[in-house]
Amino acid sequence: MTAPTSSVITLHINGEPHTLTVDHRTTLLDALRERLGLTGTKKGCDHGQCGACTVLLDGRRALACLQLAVATEGRAVTTVEGVADGDRLHPVQQAFLELDGYQCGYCTPGQICSALAVLEEHAAGWPSAVTADLRPEAGPPALTDDEIRERMSGNLCRCAAYPAIVRAVARAAQERPGESGTVAA
Ligand code: FES
Ligand code: FES
Repeated sequence: MTAPTSSVITLHINGEPHTLTVDHRTTLLDALRERLGLTGTKKGCDHGQCGACTVLLDGRRALACLQLAVATEGRAVTTVEGVADGDRLHPVQQAFLELDGYQCGYCTPGQICSALAVLEEHAAGWPSAVTADLRPEAGPPALTDDEIRERMSGNLCRCAAYPAIVRAVARAAQERPGESGTVAA
């Protein structure tokens, strides 16, 4: 008997179920863009190198180009299309807009999804590779520019809008309710 090479799956994207038949080799990125018309998530390198395809899986960052669609069943996928609340932009989106956190905009959906996760990771007290004091009693690290650069380092911007991206993430962090340990950019 020949093993099946495709399956009917249901993906839960931005709170909506989408049922489709996919070849088992189809990446989540191609399922989103080519099958479901959700083209907000961008394909840059298609090799896990640039971060343009960053989405959230169960609230954590994931590269959609390295994730098989069939392995995504049962998980909550958030793409840039699901970040705003209707017509009201998320504070991260608003900060990117007001502080010019982009030029061509191609990397921006991935930057925004990544920034959302950075803020959650920081609020949860996760250290980064540049966190100086890792002792539990030291508490969460201040979200300095260096911390933001390190935590966003998986998202490349070919336009080099990095200074404005750092400012936008810092601004969004300051606007989080109850946020502490944030250092102005
Ligand atoms: S397109 Fe996925 S990391 Fe570049
Ligand atoms: S704004 Fe152009 S690649 Fe980042």
